This record gives sequence, structure tokens and C-alpha cells, in this order.
Amino acid sequence: MAAHRHIDINSTQIWAKLHQHQRATRHMHMRELFALDPHRFQRFSLELDGLLLDYSKNRVTERTLELLFELAQKADLRGWMDRMRRGERINVSEDRAVLHTALRLPKGTSLRVDGRDVAADVHKVLSRLKDFSEQVRDGRWKGFSGQRIRNVVNLGIGGSDLGPLVATDALAAYAHPELSVHFVSNVDGQHLARTLGKLDPATTLFIVASKSFTTPETLLNAQAAREWFLRKGREGDIARHFVAVSTNDAAVSAFGIDTRHMFGFWDWVGGRYSVWSAIGLSVMLAIGYDNFRAFLDGGHAMDRHFFEAPFEANMPVLLALIGIWYNTFYRAHTHAIMPYDHGLRRLPAHIQQLDMESNGKRVGRLGEALDFDTGPVIWGEEGANSQHAFFQLLHQGTRLVPCDFILPLNSHYPLGNQHDVLVANCLAQTEALMRGKNEAEAIQELGHLSGEQLDMLLPQKLFPGNQPSNTLALDKVTPYSMGMLMALYEHKVFVQGVIWGINSFDQWGVEYGKQLAKRILPELSGGAGALAHDSSTNGLIQHYRERHGK
Ligand code: F6P
Repeated sequence: MAAHRHIDINSTQIWAKLHQHQRATRHMHMRELFALDPHRFQRFSLELDGLLLDYSKNRVTERTLELLFELAQKADLRGWMDRMRRGERINVSEDRAVLHTALRLPKGTSLRVDGRDVAADVHKVLSRLKDFSEQVRDGRWKGFSGQRIRNVVNLGIGGSDLGPLVATDALAAYAHPELSVHFVSNVDGQHLARTLGKLDPATTLFIVASKSFTTPETLLNAQAAREWFLRKGREGDIARHFVAVSTNDAAVSAFGIDTRHMFGFWDWVGGRYSVWSAIGLSVMLAIGYDNFRAFLDGGHAMDRHFFEAPFEANMPVLLALIGIWYNTFYRAHTHAIMPYDHGLRRLPAHIQQLDMESNGKRVGRLGEALDFDTGPVIWGEEGANSQHAFFQLLHQGTRLVPCDFILPLNSHYPLGNQHDVLVANCLAQTEALMRGKNEAEAIQELGHLSGEQLDMLLPQKLFPGNQPSNTLALDKVTPYSMGMLMALYEHKVFVQGVIWGINSFDQWGVEYGKQLAKRILPELSGGAGALAHDSSTNGLIQHYRERHGK
């Protein structure tokens, strides 16, 4: 990896200046900011290819943004963006490049990394995926009984599940009418059993999707799927019903899948960034190659914007810096994502993995302890349902919860004026969160009350407001806009990691639980000697054994 200077970001002057600025401006209300500047929306919004980002409903002034841009410069953000784009090994703890952006490069471009043209490698796999997906989609690929494939089951977890699931669900309007795509991730047998319950082995194709091909949840599900299949099919039929997506040829063969039916990718694609690689096969099967290419093109458009636009007009950079403003300087602990679109309802889960697995870290790139808050808790739920669930806390609770509202302006499923109602709800929420309702306004509504009754009700009718939100308005959910949206969040997370000095591309934190689960598994059946955990874990293992008569 090329040398770069280490920066203790929280010892810099700009860090201190931002703290000072936060103290000086924290009482400022967004309502006043809007009153002072009738052009605030124009000033604090930008559009790219039909995706509008309105960040005007934030507790920021031009000065706040200036200071945040200075922070980004201090952290050498531009340098890190260039290093990522060039394919330097910025994932230091795993000594890997980070090149999911190369997966979205158009045909004919070239990117040489360590003497190899990785763009050419990407396009070779894409053309195999195209060929295979077309055969399945047009019915040339037959199952063992000679019938076409009707159901595809993607077996994978984490990034090998969430990205493809979200893209497939969001793009349901583009799906093949006679091919259903299902996603099974959980090792809880219920997930596979309930999915397979409705399917016929003769017309089902399984994709075993695992970068490492060592993930127990996925391998156990793949094994169980194989057994289910063999109740009707024969060993020799497996090749027509099981394909693999992985970087691990040896493990794929050992599992019994012919590597001719394997689609590869590379160690420079992180799991949570892998939907753009062969891991997106399930998406391609659902929406077809051309639509998948449009999805990649949307991602690529966002990459170019990210790498080339100045920070002041750069969507991922703006989202990231505003996020840091609340997370680090206001100490907001969470960040909510609210898609106002039923097809995007699992997007918060995908962004949750993307963000929390990337930036949920307490040490920096060199292993140094970080003495400030890093990645927030990401959560969220589709609107309008969420309004009837947890919005009470956002409006009148005691916590600062920055939110992103994601709003498609046109629906694939127009039904009376329902889409207008959905949009009105979304806009009303961001307005209410920003404005709040003050005493004068509440009193006006309660004009018929007085005395004790008014004293009791008035405080309950007040809304402090000043609750920040970004609105991302898409013209429509299309493969292209979905690509832009998903790439936008990837880059946002990267920018935040750079500023905090984090390697956003490893995930050592998921290992420990896996190690302990391996130790506990044999203990559940009672055969592994004396239990030597804490009393709670021992007690729970014992309780399980008793309930199972062991
Ligand atoms: O949860 C850890 C993790 O490694 C994720 O980063 C990854 O997306 C997931 O497990 C699945 O891994 P694999 O694709 O190797 O099965």
C-alpha cells in the first residue's frame, strides 16, 4: 500500500472548531433558518440523473458545511477516494484492494491493478452470467424432468443475501412473469422449509451464494436443499439445479457443485458490496441482463459523481458529513432510514449491514483506539407504516434522531390517489419534524379550553421540532435509480470511515460469536464434558438440555 500520513483526527484544530461551532449553534431552530432564507431549499439541495437530495432540513448553515468540508480535507478524503478508485490495498487488515466500483465499469473500459485488467475480468464473468440467465429466463435451461425453471432460491446470508434481496424486491415491476426468486438466509430451518414447501424440485434452481463458501448457515441450508432435491431428483441431476457463486473454487467442488456451474468474483469485493458481482445473479434472473446492466450503470453514474464532483456538490460526501455532524458533534446515537415505498422495505436492513459492519469499529486503521463515537445504529422501516409505529418518539421523544426519507415520485402500481396520499404523508412528516408546533400554535388549536385542562393538555400538544432529515426523491424506482441509490450509501459509509480513520472493509467483530457458537454446539447435546462458561450461559445450556431430555 502506498504510504499515507496518519492523522489523529480528533486532535486537529478543525475538530475542535466543529465542537465549538456546535456549542455556538445548537440552540438555533431550523424554523428560523427557513424564515431567514427563502432560498434555503435551492441552496441546500442537488439533483443527479433524476435523484434529488434535499438536505435543507438539517441543523446546518453554510458555515457548518464549510467546516465539515475542511474536516474532510484534513482527513485526506480526496486522497482516499483516489486510492480506492485506483485499486490500492486500502483494506489494510486483510491486505486487499476495495474495488466494488470496478464491477460497475462499462464495457470497453480498462482498470489495471497489479498488472491485471480487472475490468476485463469483470466483463468475462458478466457475459457468462448473461448467457446463463438468458437460458433460464427463456426456458432453454431445463430441469431434470424437461420442464423449465419456475423458481430460483438464493441461499446466502449477510451481503450474499441482503443486497440481492433488496434489489430484486425493489424491482419487482421488472421481474420475469413466470420465474419467482426467493431468498433463504437464516439457519433456522423454518426459513428453508417454509420456502420449499410451495416448490417443486423439478422446476427449482438453487444458487448457493457465498463469497467464502465456508459460512455455516449457508452451507447447512445448501445441504438441506440438496437433500430435499434428492427426494425427487437424482445425483446426476444436481448440475441442472444447483449453481454456486463464490471466490472459493475448491470448496464449491468439495460441496459437489461442478465449477463449470460456478460464477466467480474476487477478494477485492467485500460481502456487503457484492450485489454488483456474480452475487447479483438472482437479481439478473429476476429482471434480465439488460435491466441488471442498467442497475450497474446507475451505480457507475454515482461512482463518477462521487469521484469527480467537488465536495460542495457531492451527494455521498454531503450525506456523510451531515451524518458526522450529528453522530460525532451532537452525539446522536442512531440514524433512521424510512423508504416510502413497499418494495424498498428491506433497504434499511441492507444499509444497516453496510453501515454497521463497515463502521461499527472502535479502533482505527492502524489499531489505535478511537476516542470518539463512530458508526451510528442504523434502523428504519417503510413509511407510512412507521408513522403508526415509532414516529411518536421522533416527534415528541427526548432523542435526536436524524432520518433519511426515501421517496419515489412515481409508482409502478398506481391505485386511485394512493400514491399522492403516500407522498403527502412523507412530506408532512419531514415538515412536522423540522417545524415542530410551538405554544402559540397549540393554544390556537386548544382555544376552547382554559384553566387546568389547558395546563394539562398544552404541553402534550407541543412538538419541539428541529429534528433533522434528508429527503432523497427518485423520479421512479428503476434499475438505474436503484443502482444510484445503493451506490450512494456505499460511498457515504466510506467517507465517514475515512474521516474517523476506520478501515470500513473488514469485519473482525463477527468472528468471536462464530467461535463461541462452535464451542457451544457440541455442548448442547450434553457430550462435551463440564460446562465452563459464566453461570448464565451454563444455565441456559443446561435448560436447553433439560427441555430436550439430555
Ligand atoms: O457476517 C459476516 C459476513 O462475512 C458478511 O460480511 C458477509 O456478507 C456474510 O458473512 C456472508 O459471507 P459469505 O458470502 O462468505 O458466505
